Amino acid sequence: MRGYGKIILFGEHVCVYGYPALAVGLSKGVIAQVAKSEEKSHVLVIPSQNLKVSLQGNCALAQVFQKIIRFFPTNLLANKPPCQITLDPEIPIGAGLGSSAALSVAIIRALVQWYKLDWTSPKINEVAFAAESFFHGTPSGIDNTMATFGGFCYLRDAKRFPALTQCENNYPLGKLMGSSLQVQLPEPLRLVVMNTKKERETKRLVANVRTLVEKSPEHYHSIMQEAGGLAKEGLTCLERGEKEKLGALLNRNQELLRELKVSSPQIEVLCKKALSAGALGVKLTGAGGGGCVIAYAPGREQEIQKTVENEGFESFVTTVGVKTRSEEP
Ligand code: MEV
Repeated sequence: MRGYGKIILFGEHVCVYGYPALAVGLSKGVIAQVAKSEEKSHVLVIPSQNLKVSLQGNCALAQVFQKIIRFFPTNLLANKPPCQITLDPEIPIGAGLGSSAALSVAIIRALVQWYKLDWTSPKINEVAFAAESFFHGTPSGIDNTMATFGGFCYLRDAKRFPALTQCENNYPLGKLMGSSLQVQLPEPLRLVVMNTKKERETKRLVANVRTLVEKSPEHYHSIMQEAGGLAKEGLTCLERGEKEKLGALLNRNQELLRELKVSSPQIEVLCKKALSAGALGVKLTGAGGGGCVIAYAPGREQEIQKTVENEGFESFVTTVGVKTRSEEP
């Protein structure tokens, strides 16, 4: 069972305010396996982090677990033995690639299997949204939706249409979004994902942006409106295969994210290096403040990787928009 990771191409932060965003799912995320618990309570285990958390704990992970488990029928919880869920993160944690939502979805899917429930993905997404509220405070819904479904998501108006409704009913998302990874792009989209290795807290970054918006609503809403517009234009570029323009839009989104004060010195270094090595477009992805930076550099991915790796950063190339499962980190 897996929760997928994601890359936000356009519109992070602004989607929290209802402006559009565009995201692609990674084929990797967080894998869960479920078995009978050897203890008297439910347990989460993450061997790679040397972590074991019981449902009664009070760390952040235990609190999310408690939030999730409240959605499960009490008679089942009372009558079936507790389980141990073993989690295997395949993507960097806290790096803007949707690890928290992927983790929640993996836990939910494991519990659904343990209790032999016939929950649909929309129901799983709903519970994952509640878990994301713990991690993010006021999530737009994009991370949990990507973690549940993978694929491609153009989030049109998160306030009026929650992510899932849009995927099913609004934009031509029959084509863009679904339970699988295939998308009808003229050609697959290859991205270099570079990690600043600086973990950051989405909740705090989202709250910082809110403080700015509350101080100067007019100024920041005009920035956010422009960023949302880029998501729409970016989608058109992808569909038409307009590479140079797509790169320019990504660069503009990064400028706007800088104005929202969610960039960081390491992010800026990565952007500069990747552009100097021939990337058409670069920007942070996710909440910012650290985490990952993406570079769109068709045909020059290796040069970008070499350049940033010489500076001590880690990177990988991923192909999204097609069923490719071999090039993830
Ligand atoms: C985090 O991956 C994306 C944010 O826009 C928060 C959200 O949409 O919930 C920063």
